[in-house]
Amino acid sequence: MEEFAKLIIDGKEFEFPIIRGSQGEKAIDIRRLCQETGCITFDPGYGNTGACKSQITYMNGEKGILRYRGIPIEELAEHSTFVETTFLLLTGHLPTREELTRTSVYLNDFSTLHENMKAFYQNYPPKSHPMGILSAMITAMRSFYPSDTDVGEGINQTFLWLISKIRTMAAMAYKISKGERVVYPRPDLCYCSNFLHMMFDSPVVPYQIDPDFVRALNVFWILHADHEQNCSTTAVRDVGSSGVNLYAAISAGMSALWGPSHGGANQAVIRMLEEIHQNGVTIDQCIKRARDKNHPFKLMGFGHRVYKTYDPRAKIMKKICDQILGKVTNKDPLLDIARKLEERALQDNYFIDRHLYPNVDFYSGIVLRAMGIPTNMLTVMFAIGRLPGWIAQWQEDTVDPEMKLCRPRQIYTGSEISSYVPIDQRG
Ligand code: CMC
Repeated sequence: MEEFAKLIIDGKEFEFPIIRGSQGEKAIDIRRLCQETGCITFDPGYGNTGACKSQITYMNGEKGILRYRGIPIEELAEHSTFVETTFLLLTGHLPTREELTRTSVYLNDFSTLHENMKAFYQNYPPKSHPMGILSAMITAMRSFYPSDTDVGEGINQTFLWLISKIRTMAAMAYKISKGERVVYPRPDLCYCSNFLHMMFDSPVVPYQIDPDFVRALNVFWILHADHEQNCSTTAVRDVGSSGVNLYAAISAGMSALWGPSHGGANQAVIRMLEEIHQNGVTIDQCIKRARDKNHPFKLMGFGHRVYKTYDPRAKIMKKICDQILGKVTNKDPLLDIARKLEERALQDNYFIDRHLYPNVDFYSGIVLRAMGIPTNMLTVMFAIGRLPGWIAQWQEDTVDPEMKLCRPRQIYTGSEISSYVPIDQRG
């Protein structure tokens, strides 16, 4: 039975259909609102706005549920690999053994970069942020690889190219920033091992790949692989809606991710913990600052637009953190500070009343640091993980007949009509 929502404006009644998702979530379909009533909706930050229908990821912020294509994140983190989860997100089903092998072979085959791309890296000013370099390089890729793979069957190859090459680009940016020789991917290594190899191998000190680090990296990237309509994914969909090529849309998502309220939070958490450590700030002072509305400080790695309970990704990340930190010899003093901050915040009324819990970024930076990933590469790590999600969402958007050019409206609050005043008559 069709359901409707009634809206009364200036005494006149309008009916709008209610749409239901497969998990019972409801939305009022207001596509005819402006046309029928002359009104638009006002929802800064889009907290109440559904921008698409999607079959990729389900999240329930009240219950702390996250599922990719119906599979709980906990199961994927326990049993899957990043490559398998990538396949799942892109195709909608888990791969057969043969499909998985073929995907892994493609990812290896595509992992080198056009040699001329190296020139870009080498000419970036020292200390450039790797997120800026990477987002520019993703757009640049469109010029290095043929455009006939933008459409039709070729697009699937472009997806795997991007997923394969992004880790080479990220590792290359790191090596060049350190003035070290670029390390090329090895065909005998899996996706995650290859990344660690390209990051840390050197001609004088061969890098020993630790299987626990490889597993932790798989889990880290699985946890980041998609998160429905977050800021960067929305950027990908919005920019993609203009019909621009995939590379440009992904680059837009990457720029959106860079901000500290979103993916940049993992770097911001480490900077915050370092500051507390180095300046001897106490946990109480930190909580006091976070509560103080006149202080710009926020507890980074806490809070989420959708999760109003413990972020399920953060629970898994915390466990991985304990495992990895339990085995490395150099104990990280930041972990102790993070644990105390969490314990204290979860008992504080300010955080309880606002449902502020640790999010995925709270412990992830500590895990990556233990693997040797430098702080300015943390958001790049998030971006590599999120790439399959961005691609899956872009693809879904481009084939959905209901999707249109993204073009929100506004409530104009500026001055009324006024006349142009010649410059010598202005007061
Ligand atoms: N520290 C202190 N107060 C906070 C925090 C925080 N981290 N987060 C939210 N609040 C307060 C906020 O000041 C507001 O208080 P009041 O109601 O008194 O004005 C209330 O909680 C609601 O917050 P909001 O800013 O309206 O919530 P939002 O949904 O717009 O913001 C957020 C979500 C993630 C931007 C915000 O929680 C935040 O800035 N957190 C820190 C940055 C962070 O960790 N970001 C990573 C998000 S998870 C990774 C990802 O998927 O992107």
